[in-house]
Amino acid sequence: MSATYKRTLVTSALPYANGPVHIGHLAGCYLPSDIFVRYKRSKGEDILFICGSDEHGVPITIKAKKEGVTPQDVVNKYHKMMGDSFKEFGISFDVYSRTSSKTHHETASDFFKTLYDKGVFTEEVTEQYYDEEAKQFLADRYITGTCPKCANPNAYGDQCEKCGSTLNATELIEPKSTLSGSKPVLKETKNWFLPLDKLQPKIQAYLDQHKDWKTNVYGQCKSWLDSGDGLQPRAMTRDLDWGVPVPVKGAEGKVLYVWFDAPIGYISATKELRPTDWELYWKDKETRLIHFIGKDNIVFHCIIFPAMLMEHGDFILADNVPANEFLNLEGDKISTSRNWAVWLHEYLIDFKDKQDVLRYTLCSNAPETKDNDFTWADFQTKNNSELVAILGNFVNRTLVLTHKYYNGAVPSADTYTKEDLLILEQLSAFPDKISAAIEQFKFREALAEMMNLARLGNKYLAETEPWKLIKTDEQRVKTIMNIALQITCNLAVVCEPFIPFTSVKLFNMLNMPILKWHAAKQTSNMAAGHVINKDELLFAKIEDAEIQAQIDKLSSSKAANTSSVGSVTAIAPSKPETSFDDFSKMDIRTGTILEAERVPKTDKLLKLKIDTGIDVRTVVSGIAEWYKPEDIIGQQVSILVNLAPRKIKGIESQGMILMASNSADELSFISATKTGFNNGSEIK
Ligand code: MF3
Ligand code: ZN
Repeated sequence: MSATYKRTLVTSALPYANGPVHIGHLAGCYLPSDIFVRYKRSKGEDILFICGSDEHGVPITIKAKKEGVTPQDVVNKYHKMMGDSFKEFGISFDVYSRTSSKTHHETASDFFKTLYDKGVFTEEVTEQYYDEEAKQFLADRYITGTCPKCANPNAYGDQCEKCGSTLNATELIEPKSTLSGSKPVLKETKNWFLPLDKLQPKIQAYLDQHKDWKTNVYGQCKSWLDSGDGLQPRAMTRDLDWGVPVPVKGAEGKVLYVWFDAPIGYISATKELRPTDWELYWKDKETRLIHFIGKDNIVFHCIIFPAMLMEHGDFILADNVPANEFLNLEGDKISTSRNWAVWLHEYLIDFKDKQDVLRYTLCSNAPETKDNDFTWADFQTKNNSELVAILGNFVNRTLVLTHKYYNGAVPSADTYTKEDLLILEQLSAFPDKISAAIEQFKFREALAEMMNLARLGNKYLAETEPWKLIKTDEQRVKTIMNIALQITCNLAVVCEPFIPFTSVKLFNMLNMPILKWHAAKQTSNMAAGHVINKDELLFAKIEDAEIQAQIDKLSSSKAANTSSVGSVTAIAPSKPETSFDDFSKMDIRTGTILEAERVPKTDKLLKLKIDTGIDVRTVVSGIAEWYKPEDIIGQQVSILVNLAPRKIKGIESQGMILMASNSADELSFISATKTGFNNGSEIK
């Protein structure tokens, strides 16, 4: 990073518009990029923040097939949903565009044409896999097989997610069509290849200038260049009907490879945002380009896209690509198809207005140098023991005392003690410490420093004890409270990149205009006599029950999914018609499992104590294969309460809990998902 840059262009990976946004997306690149950009804006730097939906590629067409709708329907739905989620979580893109836009189609098409006219591509007729049942060429995610590099049996035709290698479908061992499940055949077709083999020396030279990149990023690039035969030519066109049409003769029915068109989406989005001066951000040597991505995107951003830009000419190349590793969820890989995720739109239903709690948790546990795990227990601890107990507590004590002693008017500082001067010195050093960490993309460290400022405040109050001193030394208390208010104000500034909603609240409570980064180096932002506003609650404790509800939600999605991975689930035919009267004879209620134990000498049975709202009763249930007794205490269930009692293994079972059962006979609880449905609520 050099001091001569005049402006920065930050891009965040364009997410595929084939599903809602989850915490893995946020932790991987949207949150770190947002923190970076917010910080730079606060410093007054010229910076643009670019993102949009990646609307082409096989994942979209697969989703459309599954749902029986068109790819355009799929991307319209998710483009809107994703954009809304980002906005709700304060991800402050300057533009959130999409690759189905007219500008993008033109830009990507022109880009290809330029390379084509320059003779960059090699035109090759090769044998590609073809699905004879689906009558379609298979590329990328339409085909799976065993990775030739690491033997992962679920590698895709373009990439192995396990070892991160980029692959060509023809390299897969035992390839299988994901459309029909059949074994594909080879068939000749013409495509245009980017000769990465020939470009290797140029790419090598580029990467050599960037040994300062994060070790996980530089290391991955290096291992591609150094591996066996080095880089291989890669097809930039596909035999598909969804995407940007290949703009040359003889390419009818072909589209650009999604990884060719998507990164050009960054350029198209910049054009849409700044129609007149976008070139400044892409072609001027004094612009610093930074790509925030997840680790599965490294090769595309560090090798393929730079190669495209170099061959096109005129464009600047990325100065840094701070890729994160992956975030897992409760010990398991996050997966859209298995519904193993925390979806942002669902989070907001359960944790209304708590965007900052998630931002804080994800940043403090971000997978910056290695894969990390998100757990709900950790989320609760971060909220209760840090946001509430440290930051919230400090601010609350400061504001409450200011109102109590001075009716909300900032008291003037009188004479400073040695301790005071030390605190003020430390206070003014925080912005630079936080800056240094952010500039190095060490967001966890930066966040920890921010919290250390709140800790400093708490320590100061604990040591000076103004609530005791007020009885004996009113003058001294004024100085102490003045300093505590300066700390609060500077916290409002430096917490903004991380927890922007809290920052706004703080400035409101302090009745201050929003101050910029440099102000936090001062220790006198709050003038004596300035009257602050009433304080409001910054963070509330999160109770065990709220956390348990999230864990239960996850375990039901696990149970519902273990059988259906990659296969079509058979649906049982419906039973004969029944009358409404018969149905209404059944009294089904919501209940909660209080106790659970195995029924001795059986494999399948659990003896449950259930609070039905009406009473507490014993039910014997055949769910032991799917649930361990200790995991289901507190689980909400639906229970048929007026079933005639019957003896099972000598125990009287007084009712039956309702379970969903899939084609593999796996079972999952059916429970009321909304809070506030007490035991005994009727199900009708
Ligand atoms: N859609 C890709 C993904 O989610 C990322 C595309 S980044 C871009 O993995 F550079 F191509 F835009
Ligand atoms: Zn692999």
